[in-house]
Amino acid sequence: MDFKGKDIISIKDFSKKEINYILNYGKTMVPYAKGEKYTDILKGKVLSSLFFEPSTRTRLSFESAMNRLGGRIVGFADPTATSQKKGESLADTVRMADSYSDVIVVRHPHEGAARLAAEFADVPVLNAGDGAGRHPTQCLLDLFTILMEKKRIGKNKIVLLGDLKYGRTVHSLAYALSLYGTELTFVSPESLKMPKEVVQECRGFGVEPISTSNLEKAVKDADVLYVTRIQRERFPDAEEYNRVVGTYKVDVDLMKYVKKDLIVMHPLPRVTEIDPEVDKTPHALYFKQAFNGVPVRMALLSLVMGERL
Ligand code: CP
Repeated sequence: MDFKGKDIISIKDFSKKEINYILNYGKTMVPYAKGEKYTDILKGKVLSSLFFEPSTRTRLSFESAMNRLGGRIVGFADPTATSQKKGESLADTVRMADSYSDVIVVRHPHEGAARLAAEFADVPVLNAGDGAGRHPTQCLLDLFTILMEKKRIGKNKIVLLGDLKYGRTVHSLAYALSLYGTELTFVSPESLKMPKEVVQECRGFGVEPISTSNLEKAVKDADVLYVTRIQRERFPDAEEYNRVVGTYKVDVDLMKYVKKDLIVMHPLPRVTEIDPEVDKTPHALYFKQAFNGVPVRMALLSLVMGERL
């Protein structure tokens, strides 16, 4: 399978066969991601890391991934320290990064920004999250985590909880899990329900998601509980945010209702939606999930640069 030069903008750009291939290659990367093995297959290559929006995991795990493969990084995490401040367009910023590097990773607050960046770059562009749009590398690391923990992706009962309206990770994930025929339950406040078009996409793969506001009932026979943050920065209206924040809380009391091998995932950052007490339980998978960003992003960088282990 050849991914050399490919942009990674949306999980929808991949077939199930391609996703399986990336996930399996990601497994090969785990000892390298942990520093137990060494490689420099991307020696001499430069990654431009363009973060127009705050990030901890995506930016650092991409940078770790590039370093673990022997490559170098240029870029910024604070766009106010760039010429955007002087009015430079995204297209021109991308043109510059294209001429300075071999691959571009971009996070931007506007939906569609990564697709636009790809139009102005000859080198591969990897979408690190574009507003309420897509976050394909997060989706791949989420699938990778489920595969590693449950040994399969389909035939799981997965509950998606929280901000299903604005949450870009859950939109990509609902689509991808449906590709695998996974049973899906959506739990959210009424005003933050999964958009109709995402539900339609699931149905297109023969999956009929259940929507409910009853979290205790939903988690009872679930294999995976995927929690998301109510994202203040996506709300057009502060009052609407205040009405829904704190509606759901995953705590040790809720864990009394779940199966012994339920895993709790979260793309992070969390705020109040998962009680830190849950971290001590065997259900808490979110920090391991965040680590999985490194091998998965190593696999993607290696593949789009056409340099295989
Ligand atoms: N999951 C995720 O995208 O985290 P960051 O915003 O910290 O990159």
